Amino acid sequence: MLVRIAAAFSPASPVTGRDLFAGRLDQLQDLLDIASQRGQHAVVYGERGVGKTSLATVATTVLGAFDDAPMAVRANCDGTDDYSSVWRKVLTEVTFVREIRGTGFRPEAKKVSKTLESELPEGTVSPNDVRRLLTAIGRTRHVVVFVDEFDRLEDDESRRLFADTIKTLSDQLVPATIILVGVADNVDELIAEHQSVERALAQIHMPRMSPAELREIIDRGLKTIPMNINADAASSITRLSQGLPHYTHLIAQSAARAAAMRGSRDISVRDVNTAVGVAVKKAQESIVKTYHEATSSSRETLYEEVLLACGMASTDELGYFAAADVRRPLSTIMRKRYDIPAFARHLNALSEKERGMVLQKAGLPRRFRYRFNNPLLAPYVIMRGLADGRISSAQLEQLS
Ligand SMILES: Nc1ncnc2c1ncn2[C@@H]1O[C@H](COP(=O)(O)OP(=O)(O)O)[C@@H](O)[C@H]1O
Ligand SMILES: [Mg+2]
Repeated sequence: MLVRIAAAFSPASPVTGRDLFAGRLDQLQDLLDIASQRGQHAVVYGERGVGKTSLATVATTVLGAFDDAPMAVRANCDGTDDYSSVWRKVLTEVTFVREIRGTGFRPEAKKVSKTLESELPEGTVSPNDVRRLLTAIGRTRHVVVFVDEFDRLEDDESRRLFADTIKTLSDQLVPATIILVGVADNVDELIAEHQSVERALAQIHMPRMSPAELREIIDRGLKTIPMNINADAASSITRLSQGLPHYTHLIAQSAARAAAMRGSRDISVRDVNTAVGVAVKKAQESIVKTYHEATSSSRETLYEEVLLACGMASTDELGYFAAADVRRPLSTIMRKRYDIPAFARHLNALSEKERGMVLQKAGLPRRFRYRFNNPLLAPYVIMRGLADGRISSAQLEQLS
């Protein structure tokens, strides 16, 4: 059972197969539609951790299951990449077979497998090189190119060249599709030149997952073990996840283990509580480090409470909250009324460099809005608050 539990949930890696992929049917359908139309390209954007890479991976898997579907390839950008290096990565993934005529009296044709990358010129790659190669391969196969973590491509010139490439491919109806995937609130942030290709570029927004979609993650995973979960335990997991599937995987997996360890196939609220403690201990090192940086202090101790209240504050669609939204959760935590002047300074400090800028500050003075720089920190501070006894699950439920 422990082996099955390990395979049922993947808190640290994207979902690859259709059977463990939950929800997101609209987005998947949009991608598959775009992948089969000439002249259409797309941008998939949203917060960190909402499931963009999983969507791209599953779309690749689905396409791979059909012989006559387009060939899908994926490449990741990192901070050292530019336009040329990204295309070298992408085109290394595209292979084709070339026949080489033999020599001699009775020449035999030989087939060799090559990558499109080997057809690129030395040095820098231009949009025209890309168009030429994608057109050539397009005579036999439509290629869909996923460029993931596009936000990590730092230089503006490279991004502009991607916009140019999309424009060229779509003007000339080359049978190839480019799908850019990255962290952003809007398409502008990823690709400022998108207006020039507006008609050819579909925008696919990935919002946080709904409680129903998160519940589906739990159910799909448990079905493979198989185990059951009661409604209260499941809704406790989805509430703590705040729309971020990473935590659904993490808590559901630990809770399933806790139930298995006590010899049961039925996960209860008790197992979820155990799981929260485990999840706090096993959280990503970077998250724990950020938490310490934000809250450590020689004298003052209110930082942990303010950060926890921020995690519990109700937010708008983009994850922003105002100082006024922190008042109620903080008063609940402190069991005493706290007004804005008592913690405004803390909010400010949490958005400064010294405390690792855990909060992003936006808007105008007196109307500042804040949000967690790393969305994954918010569920962590709440789980930590629960594990440390700073708040109870009853209080949490009351506030939500
Ligand atoms: N539709 C989904 N169904 C099930 N699990 C998902 C889904 N989308 C994302 N996940 C899980 O959520 C976590 C983050 O997903 P990921 O695709 O890496 O997000 P992003 O690329 O947006 O940062 C991973 O653990 C992944 O397994
Ligand atoms: Mg990703």
